[in-house]
Amino acid sequence: MLAIDAHDLAKTFRSGWPRRRETHALRGVSLTVQRGAIVGVLGPNGAGKTTLLSILTTLLVPDRGRATILGHDLAREPGAIRRRLNMASGNASFLWSLRVEEIIAFYGRLYGLGGRALAARVEELLGFAELGPHRRVPYNELSTGLKQRLALAKSLVNQPELLFLDEPTLGLDPDVAIRLRAQIAALRRQRGTTIVLTTHYMREAEELCDEIAFVKNGRLLARGSSEELKRAIKLGDVIALRVDAGGAAALAGLPGILRTTAEDGRVELTVDSAQKRLGEVLQRLHESGAVVRDLEVREPQLEDVFIELAK
Ligand SMILES: Nc1ncnc2c1ncn2[C@@H]1O[C@H](COP(=O)(O)OP(=O)(O)OP(=O)(O)O)[C@@H](O)[C@H]1O
Ligand SMILES: [Mg+2]
Repeated sequence: MLAIDAHDLAKTFRSGWPRRRETHALRGVSLTVQRGAIVGVLGPNGAGKTTLLSILTTLLVPDRGRATILGHDLAREPGAIRRRLNMASGNASFLWSLRVEEIIAFYGRLYGLGGRALAARVEELLGFAELGPHRRVPYNELSTGLKQRLALAKSLVNQPELLFLDEPTLGLDPDVAIRLRAQIAALRRQRGTTIVLTTHYMREAEELCDEIAFVKNGRLLARGSSEELKRAIKLGDVIALRVDAGGAAALAGLPGILRTTAEDGRVELTVDSAQKRLGEVLQRLHESGAVVRDLEVREPQLEDVFIELAK
């Protein structure tokens, strides 16, 4: 079952007077997301990620394209969609003087909650986001980590089946980010929530996401699991060696070597497969009399894929 089935979404912003500057934020993006999946939308600054999320959450009307969200047509049934999804932004900001529990309650009332049901939901979300001890703290006194946790709690107030998180761990220290990620993973595990998130942190994408969609210049360039993307981009493995002078020369002409860099006795070979080539490389060095002092084999990282695609 699909939570999102989007075709050819496009959006051009016109700004300035008389609307002369055009920014093609989205140029025809199609995306499907299975129910219960966690999908990461990655891409450089200005790629169109937030624009895509804004369209899918009904906040922005696309110029072109169509989408079915949780079985509802995006253009014809935005109200039905809004009741069943929610979103949180790492850039969110709430009224500075309201307290944590008041902010959650405020959003609860917008979804028609009141009385005991509202109080129960607020308690549940304070517990889930570990905000209990901070419930009476005004918004402007919260640390960035607590603000992000509050944004997540607020986004759960209508028990959404589909949740959009725009850079949920923006600006968090690693320790706090890890806990927030664990809470996001728990949502899917405990409630089966479908989650679409954007992030600039590759570890976050690898840890949380079943699939990654890579967006650049308003287009979807690639999608797949982190492993699939690494294979598809064919970046090769790196064999990094510390060898005596002359070592690199001995390796010339070996098959499977895509790139060689040599500097100060350090040689880096990018090969099609380290498993296949390591034996030959070491044998050739041994035969030439070069002494290998250190050896490291690195598989490509998602970060390498990102850099390659962003070029
Ligand atoms: N309201 C707007 N008016 C004019 N241009 C806009 C507007 N919103 C976004 N843009 C432009 O559209 C493009 C895509 O922006 P978007 O915010 O979707 O990128 P993003 O991928 O979320 O980037 P980031 O990683 O920096 O958050 C950018 O060039 C941006 O400047
Ligand atoms: Mg953005």
